[in-house]
Amino acid sequence: METRRGYSIFHIGLHWLIAALVLFQLFFGESMTAVVDAAEGGQPVSVTDKALGSAHYWVGLAILALVLVRLIVRLASGVPAPAGRGPKWMQVAAHASHGLFYVLLLAAPAIGLLAFYLGDPWGDVHSLAKPAFIALIAIHAVAALYHQFWLKDGTLKRMLSTAG
Ligand code: HEM
Ligand code: HEM
Repeated sequence: METRRGYSIFHIGLHWLIAALVLFQLFFGESMTAVVDAAEGGQPVSVTDKALGSAHYWVGLAILALVLVRLIVRLASGVPAPAGRGPKWMQVAAHASHGLFYVLLLAAPAIGLLAFYLGDPWGDVHSLAKPAFIALIAIHAVAALYHQFWLKDGTLKRMLSTAG
């Protein structure tokens, strides 16, 4: 749905908040793996892993809730059309990668819950979120910088402020 001139301040805030929370999950997710492994092997777990494992659980659920809010906002008020300048295939790729982000942002926490309560094979499936997110974020960030500084079409700027 493309009905706006720019992103709303709410959508921009949610974009960067969710991005920061996802990075937290990627950096510290292994503490949750350490907690699960320790519980399975009946071994003690360090205080740091315990705290970060618990944070992983709650930050993951917060991401799920915030993404649902973001999708509702997106449906209700729409998003702007592509900033332009770039071949058609690039716009199709941008659309597809944004869709893939939303699928991952919903699937990773949902499968995380299955991993937490049911164990493997969901733990193994959930661990795939890490390479999938890293690859997509790398492509996404490079594309945003390319648009902003090579094509100079203001794509990054409009995800940083509502003005112009
Ligand atoms: C977008 C949200 C999430 C991301 C990006 C994420 C990412 C990760 C990462 C990177 C790991 C470490 C994988 C490794 O050791 O290689 C992990 C492990 C784990 N996460 Fe998440 N996670 C998310 C949400 C959740 C949620 C909501 C839960 C549960 C409520 C959860 C439960 C787990 C469990 C149980 C493990 C250990 C898996 C195992 O090795 O058996 N995650 N997660
Ligand atoms: C975990 C990290 C990130 C996630 C999950 C993420 C996710 C997304 C999603 C789903 C959209 C589509 C917005 C919509 O139409 O509803 C988007 C747009 C955008 N993101 Fe990210 N993003 C992340 C990191 C970044 C970074 C690091 C940058 C900058 C270097 C960036 C720059 C942008 C820009 C400029 C747009 C707007 C694109 C356009 O107007 O067509 N994002 N992001």
